[in-house]
Amino acid sequence: MSNRPTYEELLSRLGDLLAPCLAQDWPNLPVERAEGIYVYGTDGRRYMDFLAGFGACNVGHNHPRVVAAARQQMERIVHAPLGVLTPEAPLRLAWELGQITPGGANMFFFGNSGAEAVEGAIKLARYVTGRRGIIAFLGGFHGRTMGAVSVTTSKVRYRNGHGPFLPDVYFARYPYPFRSSAGPEGCVREALEDIERLFEYVIAPEDVAAFLLEPIQGEGGYVIPPREWLVALREIADRHGILLIFDEVQTGFGRTGQWFAAQVFGVEPDILCIAKGIANGFPLGAVAARRELMGRWGPASHGTTYGGNPISCAAALAVLEVIREENLLERARVLGAYALERLEMLRAEASIVGDVRGVGLMLAVEFVRPGTKDPNPEAVRCVLREALQRGLLLYPCGHWSQTIRLIPPLVITQGQLEEALAIFREAVRAAERSCA
Ligand SMILES: Cc1ncc(COP(=O)(O)O)c(C=O)c1O
Repeated sequence: MSNRPTYEELLSRLGDLLAPCLAQDWPNLPVERAEGIYVYGTDGRRYMDFLAGFGACNVGHNHPRVVAAARQQMERIVHAPLGVLTPEAPLRLAWELGQITPGGANMFFFGNSGAEAVEGAIKLARYVTGRRGIIAFLGGFHGRTMGAVSVTTSKVRYRNGHGPFLPDVYFARYPYPFRSSAGPEGCVREALEDIERLFEYVIAPEDVAAFLLEPIQGEGGYVIPPREWLVALREIADRHGILLIFDEVQTGFGRTGQWFAAQVFGVEPDILCIAKGIANGFPLGAVAARRELMGRWGPASHGTTYGGNPISCAAALAVLEVIREENLLERARVLGAYALERLEMLRAEASIVGDVRGVGLMLAVEFVRPGTKDPNPEAVRCVLREALQRGLLLYPCGHWSQTIRLIPPLVITQGQLEEALAIFREAVRAAERSCA
């Protein structure tokens, strides 16, 4: 017993214990516990978590209502494979979700993660249309399982060495107003031309099962497309009987100031992928669709052992209550607009800030080499370090890791937000001095 390593010793052997693809990331902070917007390091310091557990902890770490709901459920039944055992929580959750999902989605398949939701959506789309093609979009991120990585292109590193991928996946450009060579006005036209070309040269529209996209790209750089592109996709999909799949794994559950980003844009998907914020850190994902569509996914054509775990579903029910009762959608809109104004001021004063953008509390700052639009990942690394030293945990995104996302838990107060933005500004100014 006595030769069991201490936590410190385990940390020093992290690289021998965990696969590098898991362990070699930023910043590997040894952590004691977490509460609200804070994580408490073993160094005795408190950090503001502006990654919110990769966007999962929308109502804050260890929200007491979510913890209590999970604990109560755990004491009753931990595991209840759906279809064999039918506890109340997943049924109640399906009913509740049906009240808030866009596109009239009122039937659900529960899994455990975002990638599983994407896998399910691809399978469902192919199954119900009898078509093979999936059109996904450059810069998109949909997860790491084989189907999900086959539609992921935010970094080629995620794909390298893992092929061959799922056949019949095609890519078109995603409109990126800041980076498109055609500018903010031309980027929609460019992106739609790619689809026309695919239809003309590569795959007939009647062979395409679905368009699969994030309504705002997350990992790919917090890219906000012009609404008209989403409207056009909906129209093309309707014209050709193609299904529109929105991957709202990162944009969902209040992050954008609405339940889902689809509601920000007023464009309805046929199939919705949900995970992350749904259960505030408990593993849960879902594929959602209208009953006429989902109801055609016959018995045993898809399945899972753990999906719709009752503890995760009980946590998700508490998340819904907290978002409503603490008025977090409105808070995301109000605080997001305030933060964006402050970040705009930073853009005006810092030569390494190329663009700032956001919807609700899904915010990002893109870094460039001064006087150009060239991506500046070195500056990003510098800002991340400077911010962490000052107690603010941030994480990058974007094809070149040239962008920093700011996604605090939605329970953040105005005062906490101001403190974080002041730290962020100091970190950017310090990075500008030392590594522009
Ligand atoms: C938009 C999107 N889809 C899918 C995923 C994959 O989710 P998970 O890591 O839960 O498999 C992610 C994860 O970051 C995501 O951001």
